[in-house]
Formats: sequence, C-alpha cells, structure tokens
Amino acid sequence: MTLGKIIDGKAFAAKVQEKVGAGVAKFVEKAGRKPGLAVVLVGEDPASAVYVRSKAKMTVQLGMESFEYKRPANIGQDELMELVEELNGDPRVDGILVQLPLPKHLDEQAVVNAINPDKDVDGLTPISTGRLALGLPGLVPCTPLGSLMLLKDQLGDLTGKTAVVIGRSILVGKPMAQLLLGENCTVTIAHSRTKDLASVVHAADIVVAAVGRPEMVKGDWIKPGATVIDVGINRVPAAEEGKTKLVGDVATAEALAHAAAITPVPGGVGPMTIAVLMRNTLYAAHLREGLPAPEGL
Ligand code: GUN
Repeated sequence: MTLGKIIDGKAFAAKVQEKVGAGVAKFVEKAGRKPGLAVVLVGEDPASAVYVRSKAKMTVQLGMESFEYKRPANIGQDELMELVEELNGDPRVDGILVQLPLPKHLDEQAVVNAINPDKDVDGLTPISTGRLALGLPGLVPCTPLGSLMLLKDQLGDLTGKTAVVIGRSILVGKPMAQLLLGENCTVTIAHSRTKDLASVVHAADIVVAAVGRPEMVKGDWIKPGATVIDVGINRVPAAEEGKTKLVGDVATAEALAHAAAITPVPGGVGPMTIAVLMRNTLYAAHLREGLPAPEGL
C-alpha cells in the first residue's frame, strides 16, 4: 500500500512570504511608504497572544509596519468601537485585524462590522462576505484562501471535483465553500447535524475539515486518492504525563493510508494563515493607493 503525501504548508507559506516581501519593496518604491497592519488583542488568552506576536513579527520581517493594540478583557463595547474607528481613519493603517474570539460581554459582529471593508484583511465584514458570495474581487478570509492555494498547488485546476467542507463557520467553512464553488467544484457543506458524515466524506475528491474536534475524521472515511486539508488545531493531552500536543480534525496517520495528500498539524494550514494575512495586507495597501493588485499573489 502506498502512503499519501504530507503537504508541507510551512515550505509553501515561505514561498508566499517571499513573494509578499518582494511586493512590499515594490510598493514602498511606488507609494513612498510601508504597508501597515494593525492587530487588536483584547484580554489575556495565551493562544491568541502567541498568534498576535507571530503576526507582528512576520509583518516587520516582510518590511511592513506593525501596530499592536492590547486592551484589557474588561474593555467596553464603545471603547473598542472607538479604537476601530480610529484605525479606520489612520492613514498608516492598511489592514485591521481584531483577534477573535472576543470576551463574551462584547458584541463581536458589531466590532467586525465597524471595520472599513477596504481595511478588512480578515475578510469578515458583511461587505467582504457579500463580495465573495457574488464572485467580486475583495478581501478573503486568510485560512480558507491559504487552504485553496495549497489545493491548487497540489491539484492544479479544481473544475468538476467534488469537495466536502466540514464546518460552517464564518471564519473558515462558509468562505471555504464559496472559494471552492468559485473554482467550479461541486461543494457540500457538512456540519454537526449532518447525517452519515462518513459517507458524505467518502464521496469527496477534496476534504476540508474545520470543525475543531480532535481527530474526528477517521482514515477509512477518506476516498482513495482524495486530497485532505486539515484546518483543525486542537490541544490534547500527550502520552507523556502533564504534557499536551496539537492534533488536527483528521486522524492523520490513518488517513495517509487512503489520501493522495494531506496537510499535517502543525505545519500545514497554520503557516498559510499568517502568510495570507501578509498577502491581504499588501493587497489592501495597493487598493488604498489606487494601484493595481500585486501580481502572482
Ligand atoms: N482567531 C483564530 N483565527 C483567526 C483569524 O483568522 N482571524 C481573527 N481575527 N481571529 C482569529
């Protein structure tokens, strides 16, 4: 039995970052300023703090300006909305990302809705979501776009392929389905109420798992030769007492016996999310300056 290939998301993300870095240098020449990304972090969630730090580091590494806004968990809705308005009006800021989830007392959708769609590098505002649904150019959520880039790199043209997206979140599942539809796939969106998920998955040439349940998708659910994108990042107890490890939504080792290719966790989709955030920031900077979108990204 031949085993499937492990897709090296880290290596592919490095290539995207290299292109973004080159694009940033050209942008600086044309616009006379650096693209800028503002990241807002509310509260002390350690995982969110790690993501925000790595986003800021990568932004600077690629020659862009990073603005970090840390606010306490008990910040009021009005104060947070004012911060977003301030960033909307700040000419140095091309992209605004409010790290999610926000503490429970805050109205997350209202905060996201306040972001100027031209600076919506997360692609989460109703305008961005609507543009994606209509097939118009715009900013697309980072994780699904990164996943699509990996799929196209593996498979080339996706026309006519059957795809199942497991999960219907605003951040991943729904935009992922729209993107695959845009590539002429036949798309099924499965979720926690789907009946006989194993059969639904077994019919798909492309499986995108974004449910947030450790190793829920079993190896023998995968159609022989399918390509599997595992978006899950779940922290679970490790074999060693007191330690934890990261696993995806797919039982990777099992799935390798069936799939043609699969993204690992970690090192698959994760690095692509940050790379695409960088890409989206550069893209937003071009649009704001009235420049044509950067090529090859
Ligand atoms: N939290 C987890 N993933 C994301 C993301 O892509 N964007 C934002 N804003 N928050 C997140």
